[in-house]
Amino acid sequence: MIEREEIIGDCRLLLENCLTIFPSLTTFDAVVSDPPYGIGFSHGAGGDGIGNGKYASKFNGVTIRGDDAQFDPSPWLAAARTVVLFGANHFADRLPSSPKWLVWDKRRGLTRNDFADCEMAWTNQKGFARLINHYWNGMMRDSERGVPRVHPTQKPIAVMEWVLQETTKPGESVLDPYMGSGSTGIACLKLGRKFTGIEIDAGYFEIACDRIRKAHAPPDMFADRPPEPRQETLL
Ligand SMILES: C[S@@+](CC[C@H](N)C(=O)[O-])C[C@H]1O[C@@H](n2cnc3c(N)ncnc32)[C@H](O)[C@@H]1O
Repeated sequence: MIEREEIIGDCRLLLENCLTIFPSLTTFDAVVSDPPYGIGFSHGAGGDGIGNGKYASKFNGVTIRGDDAQFDPSPWLAAARTVVLFGANHFADRLPSSPKWLVWDKRRGLTRNDFADCEMAWTNQKGFARLINHYWNGMMRDSERGVPRVHPTQKPIAVMEWVLQETTKPGESVLDPYMGSGSTGIACLKLGRKFTGIEIDAGYFEIACDRIRKAHAPPDMFADRPPEPRQETLL
């Protein structure tokens, strides 16, 4: 039995362990995901703006489920026709070779800190390696400016839109088995892909539901508008 399920438009969100629930799900055109790939295991801390010292933030010391062990991509390699896995430079030795890696340059050569200058996603597609420049450094960003981060390894929605445009077509079904705060889901919603997201952590699941709900039905800007003053007819 599924612990919790939310349906929001074309999005199906499941609070579950993806490894146990996945075999019971229907098939998908694509798996697009950013799994926990063992940065806690290999580096002690990592990601954008988290960690120790001058880059400490509200996420300092926050652990991600599954991030204390090396990631095993094997359950996902044949899970769909298209497979895209972020963080794959951390587990490239467990992946088939691929000509088409997607590289997100998040510093654009402007700054350098103790964290990676770029993130890399492996794909199982033919074609060429592709690159996006999208600045993302704490509160200094090319998108979602002024919007607080809600997950320590949250991806920009704009980058996930680019990934989907590079690898999938409108109307296709996309699974993100490690949904986190739901960035892949929001990008799917915006681009007309059907989305299924799985998240094991109840707190992040709630956050993903909330963000996807807001993206599906943007707030009514006129809801709190005072009534129009009555027009008096001047004779
Ligand atoms: C790297 S984060 C994904 C962040 C996401 N890309 C975003 O933009 O918010 C990986 C997520 O996978 C979740 N996770 C870890 N193991 C899981 C499992 N077995 N099943 C489902 N979710 C899992 C973690 O709780 C974490 O939120």
